[in-house]
Amino acid sequence: MNDYQIEINLSSAKKQKPAFDSLEFGKNFTDHMFIMDYTQGRGWHDPRIIPYQPLKLDPSAMVFHYGQSVFEGLKAYLTKDQEVLMFRPYMNMERLNKSNTRLCIPAIDEELAVQALKKLISVDREWVPNVPGTSLYIRPFIISTEPYLGVASSKQFQFIIIMSPVGAYYKEGINPVKIAVQNEYVRAVKGGTGNAKTGGNYASSLKAQEVAEETGYSQVLWLDGKENKYVEEVGSMNIFFKINGEIVTPELNGSILEGVTRNSVIELIKHWNIPLSERRVSIDEIYEAHKRGELEEAFGTGTAAVISPIGEFFWNGEKLCINNGETGQVSKKLYDTLTGIQRGEIDDHFGWIVKV
Ligand code: COI
Repeated sequence: MNDYQIEINLSSAKKQKPAFDSLEFGKNFTDHMFIMDYTQGRGWHDPRIIPYQPLKLDPSAMVFHYGQSVFEGLKAYLTKDQEVLMFRPYMNMERLNKSNTRLCIPAIDEELAVQALKKLISVDREWVPNVPGTSLYIRPFIISTEPYLGVASSKQFQFIIIMSPVGAYYKEGINPVKIAVQNEYVRAVKGGTGNAKTGGNYASSLKAQEVAEETGYSQVLWLDGKENKYVEEVGSMNIFFKINGEIVTPELNGSILEGVTRNSVIELIKHWNIPLSERRVSIDEIYEAHKRGELEEAFGTGTAAVISPIGEFFWNGEKLCINNGETGQVSKKLYDTLTGIQRGEIDDHFGWIVKV
């Protein structure tokens, strides 16, 4: 394996750290960041760790105008033995490159990116929070920086990694969230960018999210963009249902994000021999299963959200309460197992953990 030359320029002053027992999601940032440039002809060059600071970009930088950008989200955890573990970083970097391909951004070297993560986390190790339920959220992203207003792929990019000590993503913590099914706006369509992790997908989701929040719902459940019928994903999570003993999740179809937590949950469920099917699932099927009393559980999965039990759906003017609004058994077992592996408290038989 190459040992990549990543230049390190340490900050002269350390920021005050927030209290780790009352962390909010994504509000505090560590002392350093990673940055690397791409220029046509040279490729990716000058990987470096520098003090966390604002970016200096030309107002005509293409990212501001045409949104050619991609991002990732992953986490690092502190174990009881004071080791720092990352969860499936190679899978995130592989997905970043898939998003790059879709957005015409040059591929990054995945091994270099994982080494950059290790070095950056080592430099800011004191920022990995030590309180149960917290972690260091890592946000790698790539932006197009060429100063040019023509619609074309940029010839310059920056790959940046920032990090933030975080608590729970939802204010509900690990308690069930309420979700409104969206049937006016759509998130993604076949052939679009739905399975790429690009800012535009999130920008276009905000309107529906705002409407849902006004009526007391945390998130939106998106249906397919063609027939407005099949379940796709929730705002920041993939979705799973337990229907009459079987776990059902929408199959990947190009417009659904290929979640790392989704993949891990599927592997765990298979490992436990619980019946599982990845297939198209319509909102009518969910409604009917609920009416028959067979919708036993629903939960979302995501890096930020981990496993988020769903206590209620709002659909077609009706409130569908699931499992009396309480966390179901499978959701709880998945949460405990996944976070146990992530924190080094449960053996990792899957090869998911990478030590820093
Ligand atoms: C994640 O779960 O890491 C995400 O990227 C979702 C969201 C915070 C945008």
